[in-house]
Amino acid sequence: MNSTETRKGRYHFKKTWEAPKEIREFIAAKFEGEVLNLCCGNWPCGNVNVDLVAKGSNVNGNAIIEADILNPAFNLNKRFDTVFSDPPWNWPYHFRAALNRTACRHLKEGGIFLLNAPWLPKSYMFNIAEIWVMYSNSGLPRNATLLSMALKKEVKP
Ligand SMILES: C[S@@+](CC[C@H](N)C(=O)[O-])C[C@H]1O[C@@H](n2cnc3c(N)ncnc32)[C@H](O)[C@@H]1O
Repeated sequence: MNSTETRKGRYHFKKTWEAPKEIREFIAAKFEGEVLNLCCGNWPCGNVNVDLVAKGSNVNGNAIIEADILNPAFNLNKRFDTVFSDPPWNWPYHFRAALNRTACRHLKEGGIFLLNAPWLPKSYMFNIAEIWVMYSNSGLPRNATLLSMALKKEVKP
């Protein structure tokens, strides 16, 4: 166990800024069509990926764009089948609302917004279709997150 890992009783803490491999596989299986990944971090799994700082190795050869996705002027002028985001989990409400608007602006009607965060993409712009909570084999929640899938309604962002 290295300095980024700690064990306390039955709990195992691992310092992380990345989704574990199994969670990535679970999420990626839900992608449909062309994917935009907002806040891609070290996992540029979309056809187009955006982060404040490009730090992932784009093994799939897809673009990593450096931009602030909360900026209302951020617009790729393209609509995707799926928008995925694993944003910083400490984002306050107004950042979450801005993320919803950016996702909506880049989704086709009926497109999928997949959000890996401990809140739901509740908004007039989306119908929430699925919510997943992740459990470890012990039956305890694996972490504080939810994976939610919302479908874009016919609205203007
Ligand atoms: C939880 S990490 C993403 C982790 C990624 N899913 C992975 O597995 O590596 C959140 C990312 O959001 C990025 N970020 C934070 N604020 C942002 C903003 N306003 N616009 C774009 N990216 C942002 C950070 O740079 C960070 O890489």
